[in-house]
Amino acid sequence: MLATSAAALLAPRSAKAADARIEILLNEPIGPVNPHIYSHFVEHLGGVVYDGIWVGERSKVPNYNGIRKALVDNLKKLKPGVIRYPGGCFADQYDWRDGVGPRDKRPTRVNFWADTRYKTTKAYEDLEGGPQKYEGNHFGTDEFVSFCRMVGAEPYLAANVRSRDVRVFLEWLEYCNAPANLTTWSAERVKNGFRDPHKVSFWGVGNESWGCGGDFTPEEYATEFRKFTAWLPTYGVPLKLIGSGPNGGDVSWTRRFFQGLVEKGQRQIGKLYGWGLHYYCGSTGQQIANEYSENEWYDLLERSNRMETLIEDHWQVMGEFDRERRVKLAVDEWGAWHKQDADVPPGYLYAYAGTLRDALISAINLDIFQRHADKVVMANPAQLVNTIHSLFHTYEDKFVLTPNYHVFEMYMPHAGATAVRTEFIAPKASFTRLDAQQKEIAASLWGLNGSASVKDKQLVLTVVNPHHNQTRETEIAIRGASLKSGETRTLTSTDLHARNSFANPRALEPKTAPLNASGSTITVQFPPASVTRLLFTLS
Ligand code: AHR
Repeated sequence: MLATSAAALLAPRSAKAADARIEILLNEPIGPVNPHIYSHFVEHLGGVVYDGIWVGERSKVPNYNGIRKALVDNLKKLKPGVIRYPGGCFADQYDWRDGVGPRDKRPTRVNFWADTRYKTTKAYEDLEGGPQKYEGNHFGTDEFVSFCRMVGAEPYLAANVRSRDVRVFLEWLEYCNAPANLTTWSAERVKNGFRDPHKVSFWGVGNESWGCGGDFTPEEYATEFRKFTAWLPTYGVPLKLIGSGPNGGDVSWTRRFFQGLVEKGQRQIGKLYGWGLHYYCGSTGQQIANEYSENEWYDLLERSNRMETLIEDHWQVMGEFDRERRVKLAVDEWGAWHKQDADVPPGYLYAYAGTLRDALISAINLDIFQRHADKVVMANPAQLVNTIHSLFHTYEDKFVLTPNYHVFEMYMPHAGATAVRTEFIAPKASFTRLDAQQKEIAASLWGLNGSASVKDKQLVLTVVNPHHNQTRETEIAIRGASLKSGETRTLTSTDLHARNSFANPRALEPKTAPLNASGSTITVQFPPASVTRLLFTLS
């Protein structure tokens, strides 16, 4: 197979009805798509744990040992990679010892989110009590690991670096991973009903240590990181440590952390498995999730697309220190963050029904991670249920799959496949946005984008058409193989604000259709405001 040069891709072609073109270069692999790109995040925040996951064994809501059955059944279908827990900011205020042992004996603490600068909505201030304010610790390490096992995910625990010392971290490791009855903490685990070790590989060393996780400087955090990881018993479980990485584009955090780390020698780099990048697009809770103009539709899509530059920028800086490229990026918080919906209960902090726009943001991000499959080993939208960029909404016995869920389901065939270079050529989408002085300025976003991967004879192409009312007639050329058959699955609506609700839970769902595919080119129409997955069998 011959590589197609960029110049050839851009060369004018014979006149066709198609106004866009996609070239899939099967002979230019990027790398395997780590299934952990399809990971999740759960924090003791709002309605995430209590109600979202934990309903209790005696609840009228159907459950498996206290864990919401509908959530388990649906999440399992997505083959989730890892689930990060217990935060977020909550993690650096949490003592894991509060959350194990007989439930009626566990202490009650004030939740991190009950009284912080994040408490921005009046409704939340009106909260009288409940687990969102007073953490009863009914859900802790054992319940969390049980939940992970039920859905087939790996647990990823975030250690408290701000308010607990190294010893508490070491004891948590011991509780989770030491063989039965070998130590006091592993005997405690056995007493709590878990003879087999939890075998937790993924450990976060703090969270957002530049902010709620300690307000450290990067140099201070590098020192903490070295201290927390100087001697860690493995108990036969390979440990994969994730450092508290930057806030969005703060490359200085990355550079100064790595600088501080290698002050004690290059060997320190080998301790890191992943460098955690956090990036939220959206207004961090200022704008209502389903109120936006056409310009605001594009504005947010474009801001979510900045993930690509963030990955490239931090990756470049990491390479200044890690020549062997041992450390990869773990984007362990991402998503669009809007204002809490007025009709959700006050305690459900940052809960809102995400719309078609959020679904496109999910797809844009997953495609970016796949286009950078050589750099990104994990990604976790914030958060799984009932807050921010969630895949599920619950309220007592009500349960709904959000548009984000459907995108995750559509993208599943990429996991474990090999991402291949793919070029998209389409007219850009133009829009206006307000600058800091509230003056209108012209802006634009690509007209089509996505990612492709291949595994055995299956080729998967996922594509986002962000245009609010233009269909893209697109010629797709496959370089290096021919097509035998195909299928499309599309999530779209003529209503840019479409979403699912308890009253109308299936308002927005993907639709599948067969596709006649043969030879090495095919013409496909991508509807406006859509996410499409094309599955091809190669001959
Ligand atoms: O996901 C909500 C919060 O956002 C997390 O607790 C924190 O890490 C981030 O700032």
